[in-house]
Amino acid sequence: MAHPLDPLSVEEIGRVGAAVRAHVPDTELLFSSITLAEPSKQALQAHRQGTPLVRAARAVVLDGPHGVIEALVGVEASEVLAWIPVPDVRPPLLFTEAFNAMEAVRADERWRAALARRGITDVSGVQIDPWPPGAYADFAERNTRLTRCLSYYREDPEDNGYARPIEGVVAVVDMATAEVLEVEDHGIVALPADPGRYDAEHVGPLRDDLKPLEIHQPEGVSFTVEGNHLSWQRWDLRVGLDPIEGLVLHDVGYQDGDRRRPILHRASLAEMVVPYGSTDPTHRWKNAFDAGEWGLGRFVNSLKLGCDCLGEITYLDAVMADEQGNGQVVEQAICIHEEDDGIAWKHQDLNTGNVEVRRSRRFVVSSIFTVGNYEYCFYWRFYLDGSIELEVRLTGIVQPCAFEGEPPANMVVVAPGVAAAHHQHLFCLRLDLDVDGGPNSVYEVDVVPSGGGAGDDWANGIEARATLLASEAVAQREVDPSRSRVWKVVNEQSRNGLGQPVAYKLLPSAAPTLLAGPGSVVRDRAAFATHNLWVTPYAPDEMRPSGPYPNQHTGGAGLPEWTAADRPLVDTDVVLWHTFGVTHVVRPEDWPVMPVERTGFWLIPVGFFDRNPALDIPPAAHCGT
Ligand code: CO
Repeated sequence: MAHPLDPLSVEEIGRVGAAVRAHVPDTELLFSSITLAEPSKQALQAHRQGTPLVRAARAVVLDGPHGVIEALVGVEASEVLAWIPVPDVRPPLLFTEAFNAMEAVRADERWRAALARRGITDVSGVQIDPWPPGAYADFAERNTRLTRCLSYYREDPEDNGYARPIEGVVAVVDMATAEVLEVEDHGIVALPADPGRYDAEHVGPLRDDLKPLEIHQPEGVSFTVEGNHLSWQRWDLRVGLDPIEGLVLHDVGYQDGDRRRPILHRASLAEMVVPYGSTDPTHRWKNAFDAGEWGLGRFVNSLKLGCDCLGEITYLDAVMADEQGNGQVVEQAICIHEEDDGIAWKHQDLNTGNVEVRRSRRFVVSSIFTVGNYEYCFYWRFYLDGSIELEVRLTGIVQPCAFEGEPPANMVVVAPGVAAAHHQHLFCLRLDLDVDGGPNSVYEVDVVPSGGGAGDDWANGIEARATLLASEAVAQREVDPSRSRVWKVVNEQSRNGLGQPVAYKLLPSAAPTLLAGPGSVVRDRAAFATHNLWVTPYAPDEMRPSGPYPNQHTGGAGLPEWTAADRPLVDTDVVLWHTFGVTHVVRPEDWPVMPVERTGFWLIPVGFFDRNPALDIPPAAHCGT
C-alpha cells in the first residue's frame, strides 16, 4: 500500500505519460516533468484519519513551440483529471532541445566563422554550453524560448571542459526550432594554453602518505529504511527527489516518550540563483536559476560507495520522467548513513576528577547534483540533541573567461589567460515548519545591550529582544551576526515542563543577499534573494519563490506577489523562505577544480525539550567511569 507521499514509480510514470499522450494523440509532446501531485496538508491530515486519497500526478508538457500544458492525471485509473494550458510561460530548458541547439550551433556558418577567426577550424571537439538566457530587453519582443550558448575548446575529449573558453562568442538559439538566431562576437581573445586537467593521471605525482581510514559498523546501522520512510533514533521522516527541487524532506518528527512531535512538514530547495558580477557583454547576462530554469533534481548523480559517501551506506534510487514521458531510474541517488561527529557533550568535574563525555553522531541524507560546470552537494543532518542542519557544499569548476593583457574588471585571475567573475550562489529553502503541529508564530530575536540607565546601572545588561513578525510586510528580514540574530518558530499553545512555549530557531550563517543593484533585471527576477528571510502563511500553491516558471520571466512572481497582501502570520501555519549561500570571489586555489565551499543553516530546539535531550546517550564502551 503506497503512502500518499511515496514518489511515483517507473510504472506509474509510464502510465501517466501514456494517459497524457492519449489525451492528444495527434500532437507531438515533450515532457518537462511528471511528478507526484503532493496532497495538501489538509488532505494528508484527512488521510491519517482514514479518508482515502486519489493518487495523482502532475505532468508539465510542451505541445508545440510555445504551448505549455499542466495536466493532472489520476494514477490508478490513468485518467486525465485536468488539462490546463498555461500561456506565456517557459518550463526549464529541456535536454532534447538543448542538445538540438548545440548541434545547430555546431553547424552554423556564423559561429564557425567566429571560431575560424580564432584559429579553430576543427569544431568537432568544441564543447557548447546552453544557458538560460535571462530576460533582457534585447529579447523582449521575441515571443520564443531561447538559450544563449557559450563555447569551450577541448583538444583532447578528456580535457577540462572549461579551461579554454572561446571568448567573446555567444550564440543565441531558438529552443523550439533549433534555429540559431544570431552569433554575437564581442572580440577576439587568444585561447588559453593549459588544458586544465585535474584527473589523477595528469596532476603529477600523487601523495603516498595517506593511510587507509575505514568505517565499520560491525553490529549494523542504527537506522531503518522502509521505502522512502527513514527512522533513526527518535527521528523519522520521508524523503523524495523532485526534478526541480532535488532532495525533499517530508513530515519530519521526533518521538519524545509516547508522543510523536511534528517539527517540519516539508523542506526543500525552492529556488536558487547564481548571478554573475561581470559587466562584460559576453558574461553580464549570466544569472542561472539552477532549480527553476534547469531543474536541479534532474542532474542528480549516481553515488559510488567509498567515493561520494563512506561507511555503511544505504542508497535510495530516484525515479524521474524522461522527456518522452517514460519513467527512468537513477540508481543510488540518495545516500543515507550515520557519521561520528566528535563529542555531543562533556564535563570534567575538577573536584572529583570524574569525566562524563558522550559521542555525537549524526544521521545524514544527501544527494549531489551537477549543473553544467558546478556540483551542488546537499547534506541534511539530524543530531541526537534534536538539531537539524543543512550543509550545502559547492564544488566543480568555476565559470571562466579568457583574457589578454590587463585582467578584466570584476574578475580574479586563476590561471594564465583565464579569469573568473565574482558571483553569488543564493539558495532559497522553503521550510514549512509545524512545531508541535502548529499553529506557530515567528519571532526575530536580537541579543543587544540593555543600554545602561535604570535597572542596568553597571551597563553590563544583555537582553534577548524578541520581535513578533506579525505579518508578511514586516517578515522580510536580513541576517545580523552583530546581534546574534535568529528567527524562532514558536508554538504558544504547547508548553514545556518549565511553562515556556516550545520553539525551534532558525540559526542562519553569515549569509549574503543579492548584490546586483536596483535597476538590474536579476533583482526583479530573484526578489526572494534580496532578503534572507520571508515568512508566508501556508498555501499549497505557493512553492517557488520566483514563481513556477522563472525561465525568461521578467520578475515580480512568487514572494513579492504573494506577500503584497500582507497576510497575518500570528498563530498560523507559517512557511519560512530562507535565502543563504556564498558570495564567491574566486581564488587561484579554486582552479582547475574547486575544493568544496560550505554554506547552510541550522534548526535548533529552543525549549522544545525540558533539558538536554542527549543526556541518555550511553558512554562509549571504553569511556565508562
Ligand atoms: Co562559485
